[in-house]
Amino acid sequence: MNDVIVVASGKGGTGKSTVCVGLSVALVKQNKKVLLIDCDCGMRGIDLMLDVEKEILFDCSDVVCGNCKLADAIYPSRNLSELHIMAAPFDTDNEISPSVFKQMVDELKGGYDYVVIDSPAGLGSGFETAAAPADRALIVTNAEPTSIRGAVKIRTKLKNLGVFDIRLVINRFDRKQFEQNACYKDLDEVIDVIGVRLIALVPYDGRLSAMFQNGYAELNWSPAMTVFDCLARRICGVKVPLAYKV
Ligand SMILES: Nc1ncnc2c1ncn2[C@@H]1O[C@H](COP(=O)(O)OP(=O)(O)OP(=O)(O)O)[C@@H](O)[C@H]1O
Ligand SMILES: [Mg+2]
Repeated sequence: MNDVIVVASGKGGTGKSTVCVGLSVALVKQNKKVLLIDCDCGMRGIDLMLDVEKEILFDCSDVVCGNCKLADAIYPSRNLSELHIMAAPFDTDNEISPSVFKQMVDELKGGYDYVVIDSPAGLGSGFETAAAPADRALIVTNAEPTSIRGAVKIRTKLKNLGVFDIRLVINRFDRKQFEQNACYKDLDEVIDVIGVRLIALVPYDGRLSAMFQNGYAELNWSPAMTVFDCLARRICGVKVPLAYKV
């Protein structure tokens, strides 16, 4: 299988890292072996969300610079043995070129069912690196105009980079707020503007935020985790309806 999935958004703060962690945990629950690579160079956060920050000695830039072997930069998550993590460099001066990153992921992916890549906000070189090895992409957006503009831009960018298998995740959705804002008639209009098929609608879930920001993403149930379980099954090709309806 060896699917490599990049999680992208254009605009910052839409929930890319949250979706990466939620999806990876849910894929492991589907008995898949997963490598989650943080490619947000200079702004890494996956290590904190999965409570392994104290263990990280080497990151992906150490691999490409020859400071360590590939295996030395891969860390098992604390609570799920089938979820492995590779951190992004802590500093921005360690940028990685797209071709070198792709080569590294190509070497690694045979050992996993899925490789999930967290990308930085924006359309720049950091994003191009994150997207280089991808077979498919998830665009994460919030249902508001600034975020949606980012989603449209990143969709175009992904296609220019040769990634055509793209699905949409609408995250942090609050129906009451959405209706009060009245920027769009309904969610179908949002999906039409972005022009990408919806694969998951994740509700606003304060409990999810508290869990993920405190480093125990794998441990608890929350309404949004149910959606990630459904997303993981859909990623695996199981035909299940959306967990949270449009
Ligand atoms: N469904 C949700 N419900 C409630 N809070 C959420 C949800 N998804 C994400 N958040 C919160 O929103 C904030 C931003 O999320 P996250 O860090 O995942 O975004 P990001 O797109 O990775 O940001 P960046 O562009 O800075 O990397 C975090 O505080 C996170 O806990
Ligand atoms: Mg992030």
